[in-house]
Amino acid sequence: MFIENVMIAARAFGLDTCPQAAFTPYHRIVCPHLGIPPTELLLCGMALGREDPDEPANRLATEREPVAAFATFLGW
Ligand SMILES: Cc1cc2nc3c(=O)[nH]c(=O)nc-3n(C[C@H](O)[C@H](O)[C@H](O)COP(=O)(O)O)c2cc1C
Repeated sequence: MFIENVMIAARAFGLDTCPQAAFTPYHRIVCPHLGIPPTELLLCGMALGREDPDEPANRLATEREPVAAFATFLGW
């Protein structure tokens, strides 16, 4: 949820993000490069920048459930 707020804020600045947790098993290699001490855990990373629309991987459009399918607003 924390990283999600960073992702939403990034959009407000016109930036794109891609959170990734898949590399956390490689924490012993990654942490020394990032200066992360052994007392901390590598939980997740996030690419931050500008999307390359010509990159085929960036053309993946995942479906979104309509809000009405998972939320009920009472008293509005
Ligand atoms: C915290 C977090 C970690 C993620 N880690 C990975 C990952 O390691 N590998 C991956 O392919 N997708 C990962 N994802 C999913 C992608 O970042 C992304 O959500 C997915 O490509 C679908 O795009 P969409 O969120 O725009 O639907 C992660 C998502 C979140 C929120």
